[in-house]
Amino acid sequence: MRIRPMRPDDVEAAERLTALAFEIERSEEHGARWCRQIAHVIDTDPGGCWVADADGETRIVGVAVSMRRDLLWLLTTYAVRPDQQGRGIGQALLDAAIGYGAGCLRGMLTSRPHHGALRRYRRAGFSLHPTMRLTGTVDRSTLPVVDGVRVGTAADLDLVDSVDRRVRGATHRLDNALLMELGTLLVCDLLTGSGYAYLTSWGVAPLAATNRAVAQRLLWEALARVEPGRAIDVRNLTSDQEWAVDVGLAAGLRLDHDAYLALRHMRPPEPYIPSVAFG
Ligand SMILES: CC(C)(COP(=O)(O)OP(=O)(O)OC[C@H]1O[C@@H](n2cnc3c(N)ncnc32)[C@H](O)[C@@H]1OP(=O)(O)O)[C@@H](O)C(=O)NCCC(=O)NCCS
Repeated sequence: MRIRPMRPDDVEAAERLTALAFEIERSEEHGARWCRQIAHVIDTDPGGCWVADADGETRIVGVAVSMRRDLLWLLTTYAVRPDQQGRGIGQALLDAAIGYGAGCLRGMLTSRPHHGALRRYRRAGFSLHPTMRLTGTVDRSTLPVVDGVRVGTAADLDLVDSVDRRVRGATHRLDNALLMELGTLLVCDLLTGSGYAYLTSWGVAPLAATNRAVAQRLLWEALARVEPGRAIDVRNLTSDQEWAVDVGLAAGLRLDHDAYLALRHMRPPEPYIPSVAFG
């Protein structure tokens, strides 16, 4: 077994491998989106993307994809093929990815509630923050009138960067073009505060604001824009995000335990909804 840098032609195999390891079936659209996001990270952070392949074989048995955004290190995906787990491959991959983050003080990733993964993250010094998720269809009779929120354009990305720097200490500068392609950017820029949110066909994330009132406006507006009757999923909410829990419950969404937000040398940013792929 050897650990080597991931190449663009590994992405499809990594998609299948992660679906197997996470025990999920991605739809064709979801699989294609996943591949685009990973190809994007290979492009922006070739030194952060690693695979394990069996000697003499071309197929990969493990993958770890990470990125650096300013001084924040983020892990986008991490998995070892189920029949190869427990042999040290996951540790070697995570070491390579974390090595790429050397010099970054802080780290962030969203983790599934998988014992082996949580064990690896805790041993790497991450604090594990349990998260909640809001799911269901919005009860449209609850929607308040929201003003001050509009659809954003590339001209708003300096504002997005400022909010990101203040709230999570690192921008999504390299990711905003892709995020805008995959979803709708909403922005709110008032005298009292600013913020932004990305609404996609599967959820609302990332969302950041300089205060909770602005964050709530953005979340309400995002929920109002979901096609009536279509299910929405707002994930990765630590208990710090009660402003979001309150909006979701008021909108008739269901609250459940989700997974974990793993952070190193930082508290959960707030008000903030992290995305799985880009933190
Ligand atoms: C999380 C995951 C990537 C870890 O990969 P892995 O290859 O099983 O991890 P490792 O083998 O390195 O570590 C497992 C244990 O085997 C031990 N081990 C290391 N070398 C070994 C060897 N040569 N022989 C046997 N065991 C070994 C490790 O020390 C570790 O034990 P520890 O926890 O006491 O340190 C993998 O379990 C996985 O894909 N899980 C499902 C997907 C998932 O949830 N991913 C995370 C999403 S956020």
